[in-house]
Amino acid sequence: MTLLFREASGADIDALSAIEDVGWTRAHFEAELGRGLLVAEDGEPVGFAALREVAGEAQVYMIAVRRRSRGRGIGHRLLEDALNRAKRGGCFRATLEVSEKNTAAIRLYEEFGFAIVGRRSKYYNDGADALLMDASL
Ligand SMILES: CC(C)(COP(=O)(O)OP(=O)(O)OC[C@H]1O[C@@H](n2cnc3c(N)ncnc32)[C@H](O)[C@@H]1OP(=O)(O)O)[C@@H](O)C(=O)NCCC(=O)NCCS
Repeated sequence: MTLLFREASGADIDALSAIEDVGWTRAHFEAELGRGLLVAEDGEPVGFAALREVAGEAQVYMIAVRRRSRGRGIGHRLLEDALNRAKRGGCFRATLEVSEKNTAAIRLYEEFGFAIVGRRSKYYNDGADALLMDASL
């Protein structure tokens, strides 16, 4: 597989909106285009990460890979690229929130040194707690 990491543009909105389990509408993607990093496999968009950089801190507020492309290391490579970009941009810390039920995402984050530093009780609609995680870059 050949993976390419690039900024998303308006032409990618259809492909991005089709990524499952994100809970984002087209409008969300449109609003985040300038801040998102897209990963394309053999020219086709397969994943997206959205980060905000605030005062030396990178907030990872969304990362997703389309269902049929999961489990092959693409999420790992996407997060790695996104965090490296944030580091080059002067960030020294990264933070995020994740549902305690999202085992796949939690394990992915742990691979980059993210550790649980807090918890918001029953934060999500399904009653799950949000875990607050951070990592130094
Ligand atoms: C989280 C997500 C981005 C991972 O993408 P991916 O391309 O499947 O991830 P990778 O193949 O790079 O796997 C990275 C690590 O995540 C963990 N992981 C991935 N899928 C997993 C699963 N189904 N169960 C448990 N752990 C899993 C593993 O630790 C894996 O490392 P390993 O392959 O060395 O064991 C993907 O599952 C996804 O898009 N989920 C829906 C959206 C979401 O919940 N995003 C996070 C909150 S915004």
